This record gives sequence, C-alpha cells and structure tokens, in this order.
Amino acid sequence: MTNTTHKSMPSSGREGQEILTQLDAFKAEDPEYKNGKVWSLVYYIDEAHQEFLKDAYFKYSSENGLNPTAFKSLKKMESDVISATADILNGTEEVCGVVTSGGTESCLMAVKTYRDMARDKHGVKNPEMIIPETAHVAWYKASEYFNVKIRQVPLDDNLVPDLKKLKKMINRNTVMILGSAPEYPHGTIDPIEAMGEIAQAKHIPLHVDACVGGFILPFMEMNGENIPKWDYRVPGVTSISADIHKYGYAAKGASTITYRNLDYLRYQMFVQPNWSGGVFASSALLGTRPGGGYAAAWAALQYFGIEGYKKLAAETLEAVNKIKQAINEIPELEIMGNPQGPLLAYQACDPNVNIFAVGDQMDEKGWKVNKNQKPDGLHAMVTAQHLKVVDDYIADLKEAVATVKANPDLANQGGAATYGMIAHVPLRGMIKKKVLEMYSDMYRAGGGEMNLSATETDMQEDNKEKGLVDRLLTWYVNRQTKKAHK
Ligand SMILES: Cc1ncc(COP(=O)(O)O)c(C=O)c1O
Repeated sequence: MTNTTHKSMPSSGREGQEILTQLDAFKAEDPEYKNGKVWSLVYYIDEAHQEFLKDAYFKYSSENGLNPTAFKSLKKMESDVISATADILNGTEEVCGVVTSGGTESCLMAVKTYRDMARDKHGVKNPEMIIPETAHVAWYKASEYFNVKIRQVPLDDNLVPDLKKLKKMINRNTVMILGSAPEYPHGTIDPIEAMGEIAQAKHIPLHVDACVGGFILPFMEMNGENIPKWDYRVPGVTSISADIHKYGYAAKGASTITYRNLDYLRYQMFVQPNWSGGVFASSALLGTRPGGGYAAAWAALQYFGIEGYKKLAAETLEAVNKIKQAINEIPELEIMGNPQGPLLAYQACDPNVNIFAVGDQMDEKGWKVNKNQKPDGLHAMVTAQHLKVVDDYIADLKEAVATVKANPDLANQGGAATYGMIAHVPLRGMIKKKVLEMYSDMYRAGGGEMNLSATETDMQEDNKEKGLVDRLLTWYVNRQTKKAHK
C-alpha cells in the first residue's frame, strides 16, 4: 500500500528559529523543576550549570562511541570517567568498566554478564538471581529480557532484606546476588557487608546497585557521615552500577557499570566476528553511543571534583535532615525504614490520615511528589537544589496533613482514591495485562498524550487523553460493576 497523504512529516523544511521556539513552547505543560518543586526525575542545580552541560554535550553531539578506536576523544573521556568512578568507590587499579546510557542499562548489563559467566563456568542453564523486594524495577526488566529467574528476598519490619531467607535461596542456579546503596523506594542501604560475606562464602557474584548512591554516598562519607561500607572495600562486591546523570549532576544519558576486574567484564562484551559489515565488538547494550553524554559526564566530574561534590552532598543532607526532623515532629507521619542517603519515604501512622490524600494536597500546592505502594507512602528524591525550598515544603506538608485529618473524605477523592485503589486491587496479573494494553496504546503513531495526572474530571470519561492510572481505575471500576450485576 502506498501512502500518498503525509500528515505528520512536514512536506518541506521549516525555519530553524521557528522550530526552536516551538520546542520551548512544548515545555509549557511539563513539571516546573527549576523552582525545586519536583522531587524525582530531575537533578538540576541552576542555569549556569545547565548551560555548561549543554556546551559540553553539544561539542560531542555528533561523535559516536560505538567504536572506541575511532573517536579516541570519547574513549579517553570514558577511561577518565571509569577511573574517577573506581577511585571514589575505593576500587583498585584492577577495576574496569563502561559508561552506559543510564542506570537501567548498567543493571541490565550486570545480569547479562553474570548469566553468561555462570553458563560458561558452571554450565548453568536455568539462571536465577537473588534480589531484595526493594530492588529497582530495572532488575525485573533485566530478568524478563535475559530470562534470569528472580528469587525475591522479603524484608523485615525495618525494610531490610532478611538475610537468613536470602541464604536459603542460594542454589546451583544462582548467578548473582543484588544489594542496593540505597534502594529507590525508601533510601535504605542494604546490609552489603553481610551480603558480601554470604556471596564470598558461596562464590557468587554480588552486584551493588548504587545508581542513586554512587555519586553521593562517597562524598557524604568524606564529609564525616557514618555510612556503612558498601563499595569495593567489601571483599564480596564484584560490580557496582553508579549513575552520573543522577547525583553526578551530568546531562541525561550517563551511568557507569564497573567490575572488580576484567574476569567479570569480559562477559559483558559482545563480539560477532562473521558479520558482513566487518568484525564487530560492543561493550554494552547500545550500538551507537552518544558522545554528548560522555562529554557532559566527563565535564561534570571535572567541574565539581571532590570538593564540589562534597559541598553538594552536604547541602543535600541538610535538606534531607530537615525533612526527617519535620516528619518526626508530625505525629501523624513516620519515616519508612532507615534512609541513610539522599532519598526517603514516609507513611501515615494515624489511621485517620490517608497518605495519598496528603500527596494530593501537596500536588495542589504545586509540589510533584511520587507515591510508593506496598506499603503506601510518599517519596522524596532530595537534591542540593531542594535546600532552597525545603522550609516551604515542610510548611505545606504540615498543612496538608492537618487538612487531610480534618477532612477524612479526601481519602475517597482524586488521586488518593485512584492510587489507593490501584495499589490495593488484588488480581495483579489482570492489572499488568491492562496496563500493557493501555501503555502500548500511547505509543501508536498519533497516540494519546502521556498525561498521568489524576483528576476527578478525567475519571468520568474513558478516552485516550486520560492518564494511564485513571484509565486503569475506570476499567477496574467498570469491571467490578459488571461483575456485581451478573
Ligand atoms: C536504585 C536504582 N537503580 C536503577 C535505576 C535506573 O536508573 P535509570 O532511570 O537511569 O535507568 C534507578 C532509578 O531511579 C534507581 O533508583
């Protein structure tokens, strides 16, 4: 079939300036992260730093890291970044690694590496990995992509993985164990030293997911904070993922995966000697690797250096401590687990306060606060930028709690109703199926907008423009209603 009508591709080119203006206009509906109102997704300092990263990125936006022998500039930057990372993670000169496009790629690579290593060294055909319940979702993705079965370690009452249970899960199919520093949902640092001992005794690799902590925990420790050991000083740790595009304050598209030595890293590599395009080798998931990401990452590390990152870590911790103290003083709320890094989550300990309704109140006041489930809570990924707004955040949080307590019905409205329902609905398989359907639908050419915000009005009608969560709720409510009428 020949398509003769072109609706979306411009028939002829447009003026550059006009396009740039339009790109700026697209941002109108985006979260306003520059004022510190957003508590996830973005690690922003100020315009001067943004401009600096932009310039660094732009200098290498055409260069391709696919072939390390072609653009020696990029390989040099990558080597510098890996050396600096190994340095702050207390690795020896044997430590080696690759700059990747982000935390997810780094995590995926670790799973591929250990699966292939176990297959090669021990003939493991049905690989399994042991991960705590709080492991980032990237590990679940890796499990699906690389066909490595997950054995999930439950948590104790303090949200720490139960190591007795972990030990029992080890068998001859175990290809790796995972710990996080810290885990994303609550900011708790897993007991890496104890996990390292188990891993070493059983000769199983231990990966530490420090995508969040890699570029802040070392500097918190240098500032004198008492952080448990989690890096290459722990003998059982064989690899670490650490993102530069998070607390390294680089441009998006920069993480690292490092290994204790080349014996591990070599299993990450892909080589195809017989391709008609030539002998091909690749160090990670991507083919073309964006030079801009390397340049901005390299530039950020050079720009801040240890002193700069220590200052950012101190400012971040000051903001974190203010929030922790405020929550400890709000009788209706409590911190979840024992967060020791830059992020935390809190829940309601008063049955008359619905935490998602508190989240709604915060949203109404202009904050963008992420929601946790199992157990329900609100999440804050704190950056140095938040120090400027943390007092306002705390004042609004106190007000939000008081409002929700005085109006318990808020729990049955808006986002609180939606998220509460979605978090607690049984039949997770059905939910997964429905989310898959709805999510895919958003990716059709000309597909619906990605509006994930929950509003009452949205919930009234089931159309494409509605947020995913709202549409899911509408589907669930309709389904329950139909069942009730059968
Ligand atoms: C602990 C942890 N691991 C991995 C990731 C994935 O990182 P990315 O979003 O850069 O792919 C995240 C993201 O927040 C994370 O918190």
